[in-house]
Amino acid sequence: MKVLVTGGAGFIGSHVSDRLLADGYQVVIVDNLSTGKRENAPSKATLYEVDIREEALRQVFAQERPDAVVHHAAHIYVTASVREPAHDASVNILGSLNLLECCRKFAVRKIIYAGTGGAMFGQAKYLPVDEQHPIEPISPYGVSKHTVEHYLHTYKVNHDIDYVVLRYPNVYGPRQDPHGEAGVVAIFALALLNGRPCTIFGDGTKTRDYCYVTDIAEANLLALNGQASGIYNLGRGIEVSDLEIFETVREAVGVDTEPRYAPVRPGEVERIALDASKARRELGWAWQVDLREGVKRAVEFYRAQTERKGR
Ligand SMILES: NC(=O)c1ccc[n+]([C@@H]2O[C@H](COP(=O)([O-])OP(=O)(O)OC[C@H]3O[C@@H](n4cnc5c(N)ncnc54)[C@H](O)[C@@H]3O)[C@@H](O)[C@H]2O)c1
Repeated sequence: MKVLVTGGAGFIGSHVSDRLLADGYQVVIVDNLSTGKRENAPSKATLYEVDIREEALRQVFAQERPDAVVHHAAHIYVTASVREPAHDASVNILGSLNLLECCRKFAVRKIIYAGTGGAMFGQAKYLPVDEQHPIEPISPYGVSKHTVEHYLHTYKVNHDIDYVVLRYPNVYGPRQDPHGEAGVVAIFALALLNGRPCTIFGDGTKTRDYCYVTDIAEANLLALNGQASGIYNLGRGIEVSDLEIFETVREAVGVDTEPRYAPVRPGEVERIALDASKARRELGWAWQVDLREGVKRAVEFYRAQTERKGR
């Protein structure tokens, strides 16, 4: 079975591609390499350097005829989406629509979509948040990522294309881009390894639900292999404060640097943790890697990278 992975040269998409290849799938990657890197894409996958908004996407579908699509390409920056909502919408909404049209024209049977559980519920009314929680995004990114969930449903109703939405918590691990605004484990790890200061936005009490990237890749495989369909929150259901994540990374790096504090950035929620009971029941998914172990693995990746660069 052939799967087209958008964003497969990015952080999560590359781990998903690795997992699918290990399970015997053929993998084709579409990525414009805006934040992704060629070296992230597994060598066994075919990589097309194409923007999901372009007409060229259709040629990829015509050439490859994928059976299923796993959609990870996106503009991923919450605060930048507040500054430039049109750009965010162009990639996340119009790009996704171009992709869905290709799926329709080339008879793709199933789509797995990387949704967000962290940015579409707004300030949580209760925790952990399940799939019934009201949807009140406070950033254009949350709006654009959620909008695609509705389009997916219309393509199921009107064109019989099955879908699974996996709403991710804060995903972390090797290959996460440490240069943007997202990916705090990568950002803290590289800063601490290089003796640079770390900034916590707010007073350190904001919380997030952190999940290791291979656990997320496994969920994609289960969604693709199984019969389940619809929307699933993923996460450990555990709130981790900004200060706690800083301290966990600092311990793995082995330094005693103190963080700096700066005002909270626009678009960011106060607290979030996701209830993945439905994913456990219907997809058979359960997280495996605890925070300390996952952070240790991520830090070792960045340590090796830093040492290579230093040589
Ligand atoms: N990292 C998280 O914690 C998290 C949380 C919730 C949801 N998500 C979702 O998971 C997906 C992957 O995120 P990530 O953290 O791996 O980010 P990433 O930036 O590493 O991956 C995104 C990939 O998409 C590619 N891309 C961006 N715009 C494109 C375009 N117009 N055409 C083709 N390719 C394009 C980038 O080059 C990159 O390789 C995204 O859809 C994101 O919204 C991530």
